[in-house]
Parts: sequence; structure tokens; C-alpha cells
Amino acid sequence: MYVPKNIVTNHHLMKYMDTSDEWIQERTGIKERRYADRTGETTTTMGVEAAKIALERAGITPGDIDFIVFATLSPDYYFPGCGVLLQRAMKMKEIGALDVRNQCSGFIYALSVADQFIRTGTYKNILVVGSEKHSFGLDFSTRGRNVSVIFGDGAGAVVLQPTEEDNRGLLSTHLHSDGESAEILAMFNPGTHANHWTGEQLADFDDAEMGEMFFSHAMIDKAQVFPNMDGPAVFKKAVEKFPEVIMEALNHNGLQASDLKLLIPHQANLRIAQFVQQKLKLKDDQVYNNIQKYGNTTAASIPIALCEAWEAGRVKDGELVCLAAFGSGFTWGSAVLRW
Ligand SMILES: CC(C)(COP(=O)(O)OP(=O)(O)OC[C@H]1O[C@@H](n2cnc3c(N)ncnc32)[C@H](O)[C@@H]1OP(=O)(O)O)[C@@H](O)C(=O)NCCC(=O)NCCS
Repeated sequence: MYVPKNIVTNHHLMKYMDTSDEWIQERTGIKERRYADRTGETTTTMGVEAAKIALERAGITPGDIDFIVFATLSPDYYFPGCGVLLQRAMKMKEIGALDVRNQCSGFIYALSVADQFIRTGTYKNILVVGSEKHSFGLDFSTRGRNVSVIFGDGAGAVVLQPTEEDNRGLLSTHLHSDGESAEILAMFNPGTHANHWTGEQLADFDDAEMGEMFFSHAMIDKAQVFPNMDGPAVFKKAVEKFPEVIMEALNHNGLQASDLKLLIPHQANLRIAQFVQQKLKLKDDQVYNNIQKYGNTTAASIPIALCEAWEAGRVKDGELVCLAAFGSGFTWGSAVLRW
């Protein structure tokens, strides 16, 4: 894992918007988050830092990697994706690089894609990265406070390799989506939607004959270039889908919640994680949370939490771990692994 040095507390955010440490902690559990260096760090460079550690711990070099899957919603460029930027930065061979755009469930989707390539024997060393630089484009005025207080920057990475051992490594992944609620948690602009989907004026365009729809002065003037979220609607769906997709994973593998050494939920909101814990009747030491320190780092949150849990000795050889995520789309998923 890699997180930027710059710690931003709830008190710090109070300088920019009408909020309070009490409100943020009570609703989300978050005390502080990290922000990348404004110009010195990018989503890719943070991913590279995490990847270097993953490679070192796997005992391999960049030249050994034969596929990259990079999950992010905050890419360095609209295109090309961060995968190729990481490939260039780490001087890797001319291997395939795939970007996954599944927001908070991005890491689970990326892991699942990588798992299929390993299972079919196509690749032997796959680098899976989740990284976000949210701080580049949040609305730091009171208008955007329901979103901006939640998100933080950081990166996590894993190396996936095949094993001959039965019942070891990634046992299963389960993925889902429901696009019915796509606009509930979304960043509409810049985009090509042309106000097509909802009948609402999600973007204002300049008065031009051609073009000038993707990005217009009006969009900037009307603050239409920031993420939007209906927090309570996300919360409601998340507490339904998290337990569902975890149970799907457990049932698929003939396991019970009590068999899990650790559940690592995507760090969306501490209250969501606590609700899931209660619903599945998991003990405190069976659920890993670190949102208090990092906020919601979207595609990076699961690998950051997994790394911390492993470093703290909370995931040891042979132990069962469940990863689960839910987010914008909506998309959600789970993975069960025997470490
Ligand atoms: C965003 C979230 C924390 C908001 O909490 P909530 O209890 O649902 O609060 P609401 O959105 O209903 O807003 C309640 C009030 O707090 C205000 N508020 C919103 N953000 C605030 C902030 N940062 N500080 C202070 N007040 C804030 C609202 O304006 C509203 O004020 P009003 O009652 O005067 O209109 C909560 O809905 C949530 O966590 N949802 C899930 C979000 C999530 O996990 N997103 C990531 C998905 S992966």
C-alpha cells in the first residue's frame, strides 16, 4: 500500500466548508484522510509506489509481470488509462494493460478479471492495482460537503500467481450490477451524455454549432464538474447488497460467516461496515476497518486494508478472508480467499 504523507483532518476541512469533526465522525467514522501532493503525485505514481512493494514482497521484478489490471475512477488522463502509464513508469515489457472503471467495487472486479487469466493458465504474474487521487476534483465548498468529506487518496496493489494447492488462494469471486441507479452516485461531466438519460439538465453547453459539449464554460460556472451523491440512497442499497453478496460467496464455498478469519469490506462508511457486521453476526476481530485514518479511497480501500491487516498479523497463511465492495453504478462484488 501507499498513502500520501499529507494528513487532512476533519478540523482542517472546516476551513473550507460548513462542517464539523463531530458530524463527520458520527455519520462516517472518518477522522482524517490523506491527500496526494497537488502536483507531485498522481493516481498512477501512487499505484507505482504500491506496486513496487507488492513486487518486492512477491520476490519478483517488473520484468516478470505479464499483465496489469488497474482500477481507478480518478485516472491521470481521461484516456489512455493508468495501466499503460504504470507499465511505462515501471519499465515493464510490452504486456497487456487493462483499466477497470468500477468505482468502489473496482478492486474486486480487477481481482476477478485477473483470477480468470490465472485459472486459464494465460498469465503467471498479474499485477492488480487500485489507486485514487480524489483530492484533485472534489467540491471543497459547503455545496459539495456531503461528498468531499468522505473521500481520500491512496493506492494498494497485489500480485496474483497460480497455485497447485487445492483450496488455496482466491476461491471465488461474485460480481453484480444494477444500472437503474447509475445517477445516484456519479460524476456526469465531462462526458458524452448530452443530457440523454434522465431528462434533467445535468450539463449546460455553450452556444456552439459543433462540439463544446464535453466540457463547456457553463459547466464550470455552474459547478457541474463535481461528483454527485444521494448519500441516504447509497446507504440504503449498500446495507442490503453487502450482506447479500458476502452470503453468496460463503454459500458458494460451503462456508459460514463464523469460518471467516477476517472480512475486509470496502471502506465506504464505518456505519455501513458496522451494519454488515451485525447482520452477519461477526465478532469485532473478524472485521477490518481503517476508514477512520484514510476515508473512502474507492478502488484502493480494499488492498490498503488487506495490506495493513496482513502487516498487523491479522491474516496468516491458510486463513479465510472475504473481501466485499459496493459502489457507484451500482456495482458490487465479493471474493473469498484462503491466504
Ligand atoms: C453521506 C452520508 C454520510 C450523509 O449522512 P446522512 O445521515 O445520510 O445525511 P443526509 O445526507 O441526510 O444529510 C443530513 C444533513 O446533513 C447535512 N450535511 C451533509 N454533509 C455534511 C457535512 N459534511 N457536514 C455537515 N453537514 C452535512 C445535509 O446538508 C443535511 O442537512 P439538512 O438536514 O439541513 O438538509 C451518508 O448518507 C452516507 O454515508 N451514505 C453512504 C455514502 C457512501 O458510502 N458513499 C460511498 C459509496 S461507496
